[in-house]
Order: sequence, then C-alpha cells, then structure tokens
Amino acid sequence: MGEHVLDVYLDEDHAARELRADVRAGLTADPRWTPPKWFYDARGSELFEEITRLPEYYPTRTESAILAERAGAVARLTEAKTLIELGSGSSEKTRLLLDALVGHGTLGAFVPLDVSASALRAAVTALTGAYPGLSVRGVVGDMTEHLRHLPDGDNRLIAFLGGTIGNLIPAERTVFLSSLRSVLHEGEWLLLGADLVKDPAVLVPAYDDAAGVTAAFNRNVLYVINRELGADFDPLAFQHVARWNPDHEWIEMRLRSIRDQRVGIPALDLDLAFAAGEELRTEISAKFRRDGLTGELDAAGFAVRQWWTDPRGWFSVTLAQAR
Ligand code: SAH
Ligand code: TRP
Repeated sequence: MGEHVLDVYLDEDHAARELRADVRAGLTADPRWTPPKWFYDARGSELFEEITRLPEYYPTRTESAILAERAGAVARLTEAKTLIELGSGSSEKTRLLLDALVGHGTLGAFVPLDVSASALRAAVTALTGAYPGLSVRGVVGDMTEHLRHLPDGDNRLIAFLGGTIGNLIPAERTVFLSSLRSVLHEGEWLLLGADLVKDPAVLVPAYDDAAGVTAAFNRNVLYVINRELGADFDPLAFQHVARWNPDHEWIEMRLRSIRDQRVGIPALDLDLAFAAGEELRTEISAKFRRDGLTGELDAAGFAVRQWWTDPRGWFSVTLAQAR
C-alpha cells in the first residue's frame, strides 16, 4: 500500500501574514499590483482547471501531447526514483510521466508541491488510488520559499509544468532556477514546460476567453482579499484586461477600474481611491524562445539534454540535468 500524507509548510498564520504584507505593498505602490500566488484558493484552483479545458487555452493540451509522446524517453533517460512536481495543481498531465516511470520500474515516490491545499488534497487522494504501489506525499508550500523541505534522495526528477515558470518575473526566475539547481545533486533532473512566443492572435485569446472564465479567475484575487482581509472590493467593477507586451514578450493580466471608486481594507487600515480606467497589475505570463530559455538554464547550472516541442512549435518541454 502506498502512504498518503500532506505536509504543510505554508500554515495559515504564515499565509495570512504574508497576504497582508503583499497586499499592503502592492496596493500602496504605483502602479498597483496584487501578488499572483493568491489567485489559488479553492475557487481559484477550480477556475484554473476550467481554463485548462477552454478552446482558446492551448497550453495544457499542447503540453499533454508532448508529454504523451516523450514520457517514455523521460523514463529511459532519467530512470528517476522520485518525481517531485512544483505548482502541481491537479497533477492530471503528470499521470503521463507517472505511467512511464512506474512502467519503467524505477519510480518509488511522487511528491507534488503546491500553495493550494485544496488542489493538492484532491490530487493526492486521486493519485494514491490510481498508483497503489507508489508513495505519494503532498507538500503544501511556496516553491519560491520551501524547496529545502523537499525530500533528499538520489536520482530525483523535478517537473515544473504548465508554463508556470512564465508567471515569475525575470529577476525572480533567475533566483528560482538557481535555487532549484542548488537543491539538486549533480546528475539529477529537471523537466520544464514553457510556453513559446507566437502570434498574439493566438496568445491573447488564451488569456481572454469568450466565456469569461479567465476574467473570473483574474477577479478571484479580489474575492480572496475581501474574504481574508475584510475588504469591500466590488469585483465586477473591475474589468479583466489581457495584453501582449512585445518588448518583454509576456502577457500582462490586469484589472481595470470601470469607475471612480473607493475600497476599504479594514485589516490593513487602508482606504484606497481607484480612478476610472486605473489598472491593477495581477500577473504576467512570459513566453520563451529556445535560445533564451536554454541560456537561462545553462546559467543556472543545468545542461539541456532534450528540447521537445509540438508540430506547431507552440510549447516546449525541456529535459535538463544538474551539472
Ligand atoms: N501544473 C498544473 C497547474 C498550473 S497552474 C498544470 O500544468 O496544469 C499554477 C499552479 O501553481 C497552481 O496550482 C498554483 O496553486 C500553483 N502555484 C502558484 N504559485 C505558487 C507558488 N509560489 N508556490 C507553489 N505553488 C504555486
Ligand atoms: N500558468 C498559467 C499560464 O501562465 C497561469 C494562468 C493561466 C493565468 N491563465 C491565467 C494567470 C489568467 C492569470 C490569469 O498560462
């Protein structure tokens, strides 16, 4: 029988303190911003799962197709004993890797890490049922803070899928890739899913779908702030904006105030004025080019072993080894 547990490194007190500090910093800055990891309460995680099924949102199905084709090669090349997944969410696509690694006979443990306890709990329960021989241990934590709590071992493979690497700003990304490298021993592995630069006519609708699911996901951060900090945001008075920034090659998600309005945040003793048209920055989703991404991996101390993509060249999965 596999064991199933959830280790919590992001306890509620810590999260509450961080949320207060982040919201105060972001909402008193100019321009204003909100911190992206707070999208993902239970509702946010459900909305993200809905996004993955939208016709406009190509990343999930494109990455799945690449993994379906290459999972066997990942298993043969890495012979991983432990699979760690960062920002794992539902770990749905990860089953392609688990099937291949279990089939190859090397894998003993799966360790998904996510800030969303609800998403993680559901994933751990489902995977424990589906892979009875495997040890499945979920870690509730922040991948930018809690990597040191990941289990040590030999021949570990860290999977970081979904293009979530693009949600870090470039400075954070550099720090993050180096810290990833520093928790690995030489010879251990990273499997990185990254979305690629393409026609904005394809990119923008993926972040601004016709059904409005992404808009609801974006506004969810305001509901989280209302609930956790007693704020009185009227989320529907903020319009979802997704814009391609060609200089930085990233999608910018914003919430635009549709009228002059005031928002009170009693827990922070703040009373904020938003002017009509003022935009709150919520998240970026950077898109990559092969040279740029392999250069960043190389600079962080990884040797790129495989670069896999789909026939249209829309998404990439890179297998790299700590050197
Ligand atoms: N890997 C899944 C989910 C991607 S969505 C997929 O490819 O479909 C991004 C995931 O990262 C969410 O599950 C979110 O809860 C998680 N996440 C966001 N910021 C995080 C952080 N700082 N630390 C850990 N997980 C984070
Ligand atoms: N990792 C996902 C991505 O960049 C996250 C995401 C999808 C997202 N849609 C979003 C974040 C909309 C904010 C708003 O594709």
